[in-house]
Amino acid sequence: MREGSAESIQTLSGSYLGPIFRIGKGQRVQVRLKNELPDPTIIHWHGLSIPEEMDGHPRYAIAPGASYEYDFQVINRAGMYWFHPHPHGLTGPQVYYGLAGLFIVSDDEEASLGLPTGEYDLPLVIQDRTFDSQNQMVYLANGMMDQMIGFLGDTILVNGAPDAALDVKADAYRLRLLNGSNSRIYKLAWQDGTPLTVIATDGGLLEAPVTRDYITLAPGERVELWADFSGRTAGSQMRLVSLPFSGSSSGGGMMGGGMMGGSSLPNGASFDIMSLKVGAKSAEAVPLPTSLATIGRHRAEDAVNRNNPRAFTLAMQGMIHTINGRLFEMDAVARDEIVQLGDLEIWEFANLEGGEGGMGMGMMNMEMPHPMHIHGVQFQVLRRQITRGYESAYQALSAGFVDDGWKDTVLVMPGEKVQVLVRFEKYAGTYLYHCHNLEHGDAGMMRNYKIES
Ligand code: C2O
Ligand code: CU
Ligand code: CU
Repeated sequence: MREGSAESIQTLSGSYLGPIFRIGKGQRVQVRLKNELPDPTIIHWHGLSIPEEMDGHPRYAIAPGASYEYDFQVINRAGMYWFHPHPHGLTGPQVYYGLAGLFIVSDDEEASLGLPTGEYDLPLVIQDRTFDSQNQMVYLANGMMDQMIGFLGDTILVNGAPDAALDVKADAYRLRLLNGSNSRIYKLAWQDGTPLTVIATDGGLLEAPVTRDYITLAPGERVELWADFSGRTAGSQMRLVSLPFSGSSSGGGMMGGGMMGGSSLPNGASFDIMSLKVGAKSAEAVPLPTSLATIGRHRAEDAVNRNNPRAFTLAMQGMIHTINGRLFEMDAVARDEIVQLGDLEIWEFANLEGGEGGMGMGMMNMEMPHPMHIHGVQFQVLRRQITRGYESAYQALSAGFVDDGWKDTVLVMPGEKVQVLVRFEKYAGTYLYHCHNLEHGDAGMMRNYKIES
């Protein structure tokens, strides 16, 4: 670090993950990326609104040995953002082998709430990996199938550690969860059925806490929990688990692997994520605020395309997942991918896999959920609609969506249409939107969109 407070960079000890940035809203950040990998790379700051040259588009990827200077101001509200590489075709492996980290922004509105801080503010990155007999990470051992489904590891890691176990006090905690997995979806719950209290999503605090019996967290998404262990007896144990969910819809298609993929832990399997051992009480009781933040609600009637949402169809062509029938092209922007700076729009992602147009694999009817992410913005989910015949896989996860606040990534289930309200507020330029299943993105399920001023 050149200048600035020592608290702004925190390391997770014993972890392969990158450092945690802790930055105040309004601060300027300068980072030099030095590429010591044998391949091109570039870092993207997921969730931040920053100028195009700072955003880590693959066309800014630097060669081995080269460096890249980042210099930007953080204008986002308080929240947990993150960073990871974005070179075309190599994002999956580079994230997999450890190139990712958290970027936590604070602001005055958040500080006024007196939420748990210090050791009571716990960032938790959930990932899955597969290790060989030499304890080395194995990526995409099943080749083409893994690429099409997305990588699913058989070992669950929290902040880089397997069988994660944490000693907590009998006090209130802020647990900040990132699904940093390449393609796995988690159905998060407490093992004893205690409802989860959610205080924030991708783009920061909700207006007020909400509770869920379980939370669906797709790759790239974040959720922050209020976890108060003060009612628990010393020595008791809580476990954060992923509940089982059905991997196939009534359409008969395959979702997320199942018997088709090579993982011994398919998407939808049930497993423990981490255990928390409750100790003695040590802090003053911190009450959960009943109201958290102000969210300027977008209104559908204010969207420039309110009668004609911008449509993005997700479908299979051959063995590849496409967006509006297209694959990523480094510089191309189609006519329907141009928006105007300042405009509020409705974007609609329709996952038609498994339906007409989804029969790309001949006999196999591939149906997969796609976590769709838009660079450079935070959006609000306007509505979700599920096609008849697709309800069963949908209902296995839908009660766990938290659509109440700012999002930059939204899960689109097979047969589902999701509409989001998005304002292209800050910077003109060419940004990406893509599926955050990293293998899908690497295979081309990614496009440019251009914000014109
Ligand atoms: Cu985490 Cu292009 O994104
Ligand atoms: Cu991003
Ligand atoms: Cu996808």
